[in-house]
Amino acid sequence: MFPSNSTHYREWRAAKLANYPMHVDELIVQIGGLIAPDSASLAAIRSSCRRANMAIYSCRDTAADRKSILAFAAQFGLRRIDHHLCANDDGVAELTVTSDGDRGDYVPYSDRGLSWHTDGYYNEASVQVRAVILHCVQDAATGGQTALLDPEIAYIRLRDANPAYIAALEHPACMTIPANVKGGREVRPAVSGPVFSSDQAGGALHMRYSARKKNIRWRDDRATVAARACLAELLADDTGPVLRYDLQPGQGIISNNVLHDRSAFEDGPSRKRLLYRARFFDRINS
Ligand SMILES: [Fe+2]
Repeated sequence: MFPSNSTHYREWRAAKLANYPMHVDELIVQIGGLIAPDSASLAAIRSSCRRANMAIYSCRDTAADRKSILAFAAQFGLRRIDHHLCANDDGVAELTVTSDGDRGDYVPYSDRGLSWHTDGYYNEASVQVRAVILHCVQDAATGGQTALLDPEIAYIRLRDANPAYIAALEHPACMTIPANVKGGREVRPAVSGPVFSSDQAGGALHMRYSARKKNIRWRDDRATVAARACLAELLADDTGPVLRYDLQPGQGIISNNVLHDRSAFEDGPSRKRLLYRARFFDRINS
């Protein structure tokens, strides 16, 4: 639950900062495999998600297919999957370098870096992405590192810097994503919304964000400009709370859609990076 009352907020803030991992290794939980992990592993993943809104699981059995990702997700109450544009029929996307059709037009399906964002920041309010599983089948020959930051830590840092930043980022017209038009057809309408909101079901903090320079229209006032600069500084700070990790085959990240980026990578002749990604409208039942 995300507190609105100021006394509760101070208590929540102190507990959050005291428990937040100092090092990415604190997020790692060893599990047998994706199908029917034991209860101690599930409890450890839930505990990490309560602490940092994410966990990195590491499977001893590295065999995984799209079905096993969905079975694993269901253990955490993640059932309502986002069937977005480039996913397969089951809703699980395969992130790999491709020049095929629709997918070839998007950066996630290239070897380029991806700037900081939360998934589905362009989704309408009724279909916000609350949780994501990213499972590594094959890592790249070089690069492809993931950086991670819990949105609750970003919120605390921004509110500490200036409470007016929070008000600016909670404005319902703070961030607008123009319509996605392909071949003269509108694939998705323009979407406006706040960066920070509190989830109607349960009151958890929700964050929509993209650091992309193109295709985002920001509300043009001083507080929003300053708030964005403050957030960009936090995300670029190598000595700050950002955690970085190189996912290995059989490892994955389960999160309440935390902030993340991806560095550019290069595939090898027999080493083609492949990640499964599933997005859910549910939050992790931790
Ligand atoms: Fe993403």
